[in-house]
Amino acid sequence: MDMLPLPAIDFSSPDEPALRPPARQRFAPRLVPATSGELVSIQDGRQLHLRSIRPSDIDALRRCFLRLSPEDVRRRFLHAMSELPTPMAQRLCQIAPVIETALVLVDETVVPGEIRGVGRLYVDEAADSAEFSVLVEKDWTRLGLGALLMRRLVDDCRRRGLAEIWGYVLLENRSMLDLCKALGFVRRRMENEPGVAQIVLRLT
Ligand SMILES: CC(C)(COP(=O)(O)OP(=O)(O)OC[C@H]1O[C@@H](n2cnc3c(N)ncnc32)[C@H](O)[C@@H]1OP(=O)(O)O)[C@@H](O)C(=O)NCCC(=O)NCCS
Repeated sequence: MDMLPLPAIDFSSPDEPALRPPARQRFAPRLVPATSGELVSIQDGRQLHLRSIRPSDIDALRRCFLRLSPEDVRRRFLHAMSELPTPMAQRLCQIAPVIETALVLVDETVVPGEIRGVGRLYVDEAADSAEFSVLVEKDWTRLGLGALLMRRLVDDCRRRGLAEIWGYVLLENRSMLDLCKALGFVRRRMENEPGVAQIVLRLT
């Protein structure tokens, strides 16, 4: 069951300066509505489906984790993990839509379908903000999918009326810092966390 409607992407919206198109817009994935979420057409000809995560995605999420490099795991979770335990995978697939969003990019050209990317939000209602995380499998990077997921997460925060979206990013994670900078995020100082940046986009 899809928990949240996914609005159409609009790179040209004049009232959303933080979403101005990066230089790579010419390569931006194209999206059209499909029976299973939205069909994402990538510049190299491959296609994925963008939709909300489902409880039935547990096995696909665990397989996706096993394809990640230790470096990608550390960059996503900020610590090492050798596997995604089933209880954690269950928890990650069974979201509470009031305070969570989880979008997946699913490759349906293989059987069973494989998750190639995940974008996630945890809302802190008291702080009027949401923490994001994003992940794209190595073979699918540098095609605009990370940016696509981030834009959708920012859109979702705006839809929720939140004041801010933020996330922790390792300072060594140049690609993510570059990606977020292109989307208008700025760095917030973190005195007690050497090696980690908190990056923030104000929405109000
Ligand atoms: C960071 C990550 C999400 C980027 O995903 P992606 O699909 O490659 O992102 P995009 O294709 O939209 O790239 C956007 C921009 O990011 C930067 N970028 C992405 N990969 C890069 C790389 N390997 N080297 C340098 N810059 C890179 C570039 O500015 C890129 O634009 P460009 O391709 O025009 O140069 C992906 O590499 C990943 O999942 N990493 C592991 C998990 C992680 O780091 N998560 C972030 C913390 S939550």
